[in-house]
Amino acid sequence: MIDLRSDTITYPTEEMMQAVVEAFRRGEFGDDVYGEDQVVNKLEERAAEIMGKEAALFVTSGTQGNLVSLLSQTHPGDEIILEADSHIYWYEVGGFARIGGLSVRRIAGVNGYIPPEMLEKEVRGVDIHFPKTTLVAVENTHNRAGGKVITKDQMKALYEKTKELGLAVHTDGARIFNAAIAQGVPARDLAQYSDSVMFCLSKGLSAPIGSMVVGSSEFIKKARKFRKMLGGGMRQVGIIAAAGLWALEHMVDRLQEDHDNAKLLAQGLSKIEGIHIVEPETNIIVFDFKTLGLTSAEFINAMKERGVLFTSFGTYKIRAVTHRQISKDDVMTTIEKVRAFIEER
Ligand SMILES: Cc1ncc(COP(=O)(O)O)c(C=O)c1O
Repeated sequence: MIDLRSDTITYPTEEMMQAVVEAFRRGEFGDDVYGEDQVVNKLEERAAEIMGKEAALFVTSGTQGNLVSLLSQTHPGDEIILEADSHIYWYEVGGFARIGGLSVRRIAGVNGYIPPEMLEKEVRGVDIHFPKTTLVAVENTHNRAGGKVITKDQMKALYEKTKELGLAVHTDGARIFNAAIAQGVPARDLAQYSDSVMFCLSKGLSAPIGSMVVGSSEFIKKARKFRKMLGGGMRQVGIIAAAGLWALEHMVDRLQEDHDNAKLLAQGLSKIEGIHIVEPETNIIVFDFKTLGLTSAEFINAMKERGVLFTSFGTYKIRAVTHRQISKDDVMTTIEKVRAFIEER
């Protein structure tokens, strides 16, 4: 199977598993709720350093990382601002509402980015009738926009506006290293324009489990407590943190390969009649074939029979994600299989 559903399907490498065994042999695991797991402590230190922040927290997933970040910077009854197509809004079970007691104002941005002037227009002032708006979340790269990158300059402009408006900024940076690699800057250059950042170890970096949250020491202290509340206080969790640490140190640079493969795939697919594609900037490709009258469900089922897996992004829209387990040959095979299917119809 050629599995283009997500970069989350990547499994650990031999070296990653070796790093887990070595940490075990060195006796580095401990009870992390007591702060005694040396591997987790090392991972948190490195994550904070790489992102240029005071502190970091290892969390079970991106969803948990986003939620503890929201809970730590808002109060029940507050309003938060999300880009209309954000992952937090679409795919995180509405935890902000159920658990955080937050209401949401969605703004349809441009390629997943909320320009500062748009934000300013949408933020409500102080009025006895209004909830207090406290935070805006940015998603970089933006999944539903097709892996679009929010540039360093865009981050800066938005951040400056939020400070004028008295808002905190959280970045859902599940794929922040993809955003950084795509524009040739270190991830910390993007993170500096956000009060908190969540990033995933378990996507393109190929770790089996885990995400990180970074920010000020005061923020991380609050986030740690909320993580405990959500059941994310884990014990000898170095067993997974060791894989995450190895991924963080060794897997970032290889993301360029995924971006190159995404471009190749997009070029090939765009030559097939009826396919309309959003030019990829990172490892996510979004395309549709509305003019062919073909639904995503039909396409996905037919391609599954031919050995290629895709994800639906709506009735006529498809997402494909390149990752470490997708080779250049897989890309060429996919293009040929899609072409054959479309021509046979
Ligand atoms: C942009 C974005 N944010 C957050 C998440 C949530 O990560 P997790 O699946 O680890 O909860 C994902 C997962 O795909 C994502 O794509």
